[in-house]
Amino acid sequence: MELHNKSEVVVHAPGTVANLVCGFDVLGLCLHEPYDIMRVRLLDEAKIIITSVDGYQLPTDPKQNTAGAPLIEMLIEIGGTKGFEVIIEKRIKPGSGIGSSAASAAGAVVAANHLLGNIFSKEDMVRFAMFGEKVASGVKHADNVAPCIYGGVTLIRSIHPLDIITIPTPDLYVTVVHPQIEVRTSDARQILRKEVLLKDAIKQWGNIGGLVAGFIKNDVELIGRSLEDVIIEPVRSMLIPGFDEVKKRCKQAGALGGGISGSGPSIFMLSTTEHTAKQVEAIMIEIYSNMNLAHHTYVTTINKTGVTIQP
Ligand code: HSE
Repeated sequence: MELHNKSEVVVHAPGTVANLVCGFDVLGLCLHEPYDIMRVRLLDEAKIIITSVDGYQLPTDPKQNTAGAPLIEMLIEIGGTKGFEVIIEKRIKPGSGIGSSAASAAGAVVAANHLLGNIFSKEDMVRFAMFGEKVASGVKHADNVAPCIYGGVTLIRSIHPLDIITIPTPDLYVTVVHPQIEVRTSDARQILRKEVLLKDAIKQWGNIGGLVAGFIKNDVELIGRSLEDVIIEPVRSMLIPGFDEVKKRCKQAGALGGGISGSGPSIFMLSTTEHTAKQVEAIMIEIYSNMNLAHHTYVTTINKTGVTIQP
């Protein structure tokens, strides 16, 4: 994508792993790969034009588009007569569980904010980007858009009011497998039970606290034993063929742990070395090849920058 003048910008909007196993809707991390490429142009009239150049047939009506909806909210807030044209080259497949909708939303708001002279804070941009998640899943949540905008690992302590905490992390490797089935986030949310048992809640908040402490203290064993989800994973994993085998064998191969990425079907594993991360990838490939299920894998690291403006 070529940059033509100063009223245009190109951004790379990376994938993210939401939930981080135990932290449903509150934890997420940013990946280096894959990422979407978006070109955004400032217009002198109050309208939003969405064009996709990837063949995914996503809605181009801005109200229905995950990049368009946040920009509508941004324009309402600034008033006046500015608008944006957004050209999206999606490389993160929609419905993959690695934050495809969040990448479009976060990429659009970071690019638009840059073109407006950075008048909004990162927290403001998350607030706008959540409107894209509402379009995609029916509910606002920030566990993909926040790490996509801030980079690294983020904890969403609250969305009303918005309270985002960035969590320092060790330099871990992330292996992701995306079996080529589509799980819609809205469906994966609808199947969840609306109530949890107190004994399960106690385990879950122990693990969330343990995971956050493990990241901050650089305690990889604590990270590993905190990657446990007794509430969401037992329900959602039924939608993902091979889930139990992938998890068991990757941990045997030395991964710290992992689980469903976002609402699935992707599965992620954290490792301390590239060697282990690649062994984990080989296991994932073997399992899905044996099942004759097409799949993509990524071996990447935690992206501590988030959406980047391209020079
Ligand atoms: N926290 C969300 C979910 C992430 O698991 O439904 C998916 O976008």
